[in-house]
Amino acid sequence: MKLYLITGGAGFIGSNFVKYMLEKYETIQIVVLDDLTYAGNLNTLKAELNDQRLTFVKGNICDQQTVNSLFQDYLIEYVVNFAAESHVDRSIENPQLFLQTNILGTQNLLESAKKAWTTGKDEKGYPTYRKGVKFLQVSTDEVYGSLGESGYFTEKTPLDPRSPYSASKTAADLIVAAYHETYKMPVNITRCSNNYGPYHFPEKLIPLIIKNILERKSLPVYGNGTNVRDWLYVTDHCKAIDLVLHQGKTGEVYNIGGHNEKQNIEIVRIILKTIRQLLEENPEYRTALKNDPKNSGNKSLDWINESLITYVKDRLGHDQRYAIDPTKITDELGWAPETKFEDGIVKTVRWYLENQDWVQKVTSGDYQKYYEEMYGKK
Ligand code: NAD
Ligand code: TYD
Repeated sequence: MKLYLITGGAGFIGSNFVKYMLEKYETIQIVVLDDLTYAGNLNTLKAELNDQRLTFVKGNICDQQTVNSLFQDYLIEYVVNFAAESHVDRSIENPQLFLQTNILGTQNLLESAKKAWTTGKDEKGYPTYRKGVKFLQVSTDEVYGSLGESGYFTEKTPLDPRSPYSASKTAADLIVAAYHETYKMPVNITRCSNNYGPYHFPEKLIPLIIKNILERKSLPVYGNGTNVRDWLYVTDHCKAIDLVLHQGKTGEVYNIGGHNEKQNIEIVRIILKTIRQLLEENPEYRTALKNDPKNSGNKSLDWINESLITYVKDRLGHDQRYAIDPTKITDELGWAPETKFEDGIVKTVRWYLENQDWVQKVTSGDYQKYYEEMYGKK
């Protein structure tokens, strides 16, 4: 039975990955290490916490003792490192935390894994490792910087991060690559485009827009709304990570992208249309509306329209466009995104309409304070 250490497993992509793996592999053992920051929520793993195959450990990836003792207590074969500070806007406000978690935390995990997995030395003095082990670093396309109107990021695109978040992720990638070169650690790095789907914390564009529409708040679009992101349904990302973990060539980087570029303003318009349609077709979803005018006798949903959009001050150093060329992972491992954006966005909006209790719980902490500092009281 394979034993996986999944860090950041209570966050958006990590939790989707935990669910995906438990569903796919009957005989699997997962240890989740998560410090439950504002972005991690145990409620997200409510069902899985009753599963014998999962052990949850609250702890910080930067903490040497915690991580070392995990490697002593469990025969970990795979590490999948999702744990990170992941929000660009927050990295602009507090860069240092990003360096600590994303860089030092990653190095701490690498060092413990190296120690636990080393079996001896080869004739040149390089460590040798237990068979079948691997460290997979979950990275981002943001390490490549920003594109103009044309072109795609390939694995050979020079690294050119521009935000404190992407700079910290780039540094982490480099330290992972250094452990491979210097110590021959079996590693992979995956660089993914923007994910969307269930359990996405409502500080990122898609879940924030959904939440604001349901609360009849204005929809903040940075700058002129023409920045482009390449959206990938989270389960397609999980499938790619599973493939790279088991079939990826050691030491290689794999880009993972949806070939689904959209301007932010298009995304906001699509969400407005999708919410309105789902509410019209399923009146029971209206319970998700926080300021539903049906209470004042007006059952019309006409207010769900583009007049809610507000253009706000642009993000500092806002990357213009991201777009991934996934040829390598498609050719080598046979991966391709399966969820069309038209379907994925309906699934996502439907999930939020049906899971308002989750939204309430994850935003009951300091979210309100964050929101007011970031966007004002609107
Ligand atoms: P997230 O912010 O939703 O979750 C991060 C998780 O890590 C949370 O559960 C949090 O509690 C945990 N965490 C944070 N600091 C920790 C620490 N010091 N020790 C232990 N746990 C800690 O992030 P996400 O969107 O799920 O992203 C997961 C990974 O994927 C990140 O590494 C991110 O850089 C990368 N990524 C995300 C996207 C995206 O679109 N969301 C795209 C590409 C790459
Ligand atoms: P985000 O979801 O934060 O992901 P990232 O910055 O990692 O790509 O933002 C996606 C895009 O949406 C990005 O161009 C910034 C923009 N954006 C807004 O216009 N308004 C918002 O309130 C947020 C959170 C993001």
